[in-house]
Amino acid sequence: MGRSDADPSKWDCPPHTKAKHDMLASYLNGWFPILASWNGRVLYFDGFAGRGRYTDGSEGSPLVALRHLVEHRAFSQMRHREFVFYLVEANKDNAASLDREIAALKAEKAPWPDNVKPIVINEKFDVQATAMIERLREQKRRMAPTFAFVDPFGYSGLPMDLLAELLNYGRSEVFVNFMVGHVQRFIERVGQERAMRDLFGLSVEEVLDGYDGTGDRIAHLKTVYERQLQKKAGFPYVRIQLGVAVWGNHGPVVNSCLSTSRASMPCLAAVDR
Ligand SMILES: C[S@@+](CC[C@H](N)C(=O)[O-])C[C@H]1O[C@@H](n2cnc3c(N)ncnc32)[C@H](O)[C@@H]1O
Repeated sequence: MGRSDADPSKWDCPPHTKAKHDMLASYLNGWFPILASWNGRVLYFDGFAGRGRYTDGSEGSPLVALRHLVEHRAFSQMRHREFVFYLVEANKDNAASLDREIAALKAEKAPWPDNVKPIVINEKFDVQATAMIERLREQKRRMAPTFAFVDPFGYSGLPMDLLAELLNYGRSEVFVNFMVGHVQRFIERVGQERAMRDLFGLSVEEVLDGYDGTGDRIAHLKTVYERQLQKKAGFPYVRIQLGVAVWGNHGPVVNSCLSTSRASMPCLAAVDR
């Protein structure tokens, strides 16, 4: 049987995780004040929120995001805006741990600002995102400006069609941790066809089309994923941001690749400056 997603062995904090959190923080540094300057309500949607803290004490993505907001040098100018944090976590233990970590952060920062509303939702990303989109559709409303952070352990549970819909639905920006190392290892394994189709919105044959069998397959997979996000979401600004190589037990492995995309907001420019 596989290890539970709450197993402590899955919650050490290797360098690529720290790099991911640094990138997230630097995006949010630019994103919060820009969005808050022209919108009443802003959403942060963490689709694979985790347990809030790693075994070495490092904070997980929801706490990185919340702390960055309440400690932001311009936070006092954002007090009239509402920041809603939807923190979606499928594993019950992890969701409970995240709740506790948020309570501790609120106590540390008491009195907690009442315009910052973290909400932990014990649900799967695709179920929750689909429900949100359907509700908006029924109400004929557009989504508030949203920053979505999508960070699974592997490559399942983040269907391309859903990401594209999320991007298309409003003024959203998506930061995906695309686990290209895992994809490269498993793409041709029997039984992974469905997961790959969901991930890319293409069959395995279509994904590998154009790959000559000798070049860098990771580079090829990144390009196809990037192209699909661009094509399906219809935005020109998708780009692969960073490939992180880490040392595994058997030598260097490319473990993850962070990709990001944006709609019409100047956040990337803000971060790049
Ligand atoms: C890589 S960890 C997230 C780490 C977190 N984003 C952070 O940076 O601290 C992936 C998390 O997704 C959860 N998970 C697994 N499948 C999921 C799904 N379909 N929907 C939502 N969460 C899921 C796991 O329990 C785990 O906590």
